[in-house]
Amino acid sequence: MLDLLLTNATLPDGRSGMSIAVLAGKIVEVTPGLQAAANETVDAAGCLITPPFCDPHFHMDATLSYGQPRVNESGTLLEGIALWGELKPLLKAEHIIERALTYCDWAVAKGLLAVRSHVDTSDPSMLPVEALLEVKKRVAGYIDLQLVAFPQDGVLRAPGGVENLKRALDLGVDVVGGIPHFERTMSEGAASVRLLCELAAERGKLVDMHCDETDDPLSRHIETLAFEAQRLGLKGRVNGSHCTSMHSMDNYYVSKLLPLIAESGVSVIANPLINITLQGRHDTYPKRRGMTRVPELMAAGVNVAFGHDCVMDPWYGMGSADMLEVAHMGLHVAQMTSQSGIKACFDAVTTNAARVMHLEGYGLEAGCDASFVMLQARDVVEAVRLRANRLKVWRKGKLLAQTPVMQAALAVSGRPATVTFQPERRN
Ligand code: FE2
Repeated sequence: MLDLLLTNATLPDGRSGMSIAVLAGKIVEVTPGLQAAANETVDAAGCLITPPFCDPHFHMDATLSYGQPRVNESGTLLEGIALWGELKPLLKAEHIIERALTYCDWAVAKGLLAVRSHVDTSDPSMLPVEALLEVKKRVAGYIDLQLVAFPQDGVLRAPGGVENLKRALDLGVDVVGGIPHFERTMSEGAASVRLLCELAAERGKLVDMHCDETDDPLSRHIETLAFEAQRLGLKGRVNGSHCTSMHSMDNYYVSKLLPLIAESGVSVIANPLINITLQGRHDTYPKRRGMTRVPELMAAGVNVAFGHDCVMDPWYGMGSADMLEVAHMGLHVAQMTSQSGIKACFDAVTTNAARVMHLEGYGLEAGCDASFVMLQARDVVEAVRLRANRLKVWRKGKLLAQTPVMQAALAVSGRPATVTFQPERRN
């Protein structure tokens, strides 16, 4: 007897009429038209079933702090960093925890069940680190929260930067972070990349650095990151986040760089909502978009994922934990409007992001965790177009969240609303 049988599901690869059989929190079978006894049978009625959304780049210690102690008037990255510096001395652990838990509730409602969050390690008090480690423990039953030790003020630039970052790792933070473009000089930036990659190799940790989040085409720390990943045998374990300078780099140099990144196995995370708002701020017109070269990286064989980065914090006053909004912005900014481009943007917030995070048991195959989301959409393209309603969210076979079918009641024409996909009705 199965615990759960989902029938008439459409999968992200386009297969329709599929059944998904679940037992003891795992998927045991995915096959067309399976009939079997189950404690609960759910008719997906043609809706898309996807593995959960994953956000591989977020800042949970700052989320939902918008307006504290004041709003970012210029809307720039540097005022955001300064504003975060003003807020830090005022932070209390219980407030960070409360805001993060609220965000995790939003995330579950949106089918976002895995988040990699950077946590600022600059303060010797370790307050944000301890707060997010507590959050990680509390949400473990419903969200995979992975933490990155992030030296916001520069691991070499800030006094005690290296020691503080090591203490965060000692306390249980999962991933080694960095911010080479914020160090004092290019050579200090390169030195920070070397030091942090060596630290990760020594401790068996993954690496995820904020890398070249600038419009400066000569910011080339991604080259050093790829080199160190290769030198230290960290293939598949290193990620460069943002990499916005690549947008502005010389094309000849990029033609050399892309194969180097691919060869090193370094993955790249773009943050479309944040890159499009924070980059190009010194431009008049034409104004650069700033997002890294997503389709070109993908074509070179690099694993590229999209992150949300910020929601209602010193850098960004928008957002709602909706990774389909992130994919939607990504495909606009990168002009990935072909069918395969839209699908690649969907992958960037699901399977590609899961690969960056080294998530185990992720996917819609026998043997994977029974974690999936039923969307009010008939396929991936429609899901992105509509930022589709999350009808049901399951994790390891357990239903975590539901949203009613959205349907407009039209008083004007009397015709059914067709903007939103309506699941097939059965009598
Ligand atoms: Fe970030």
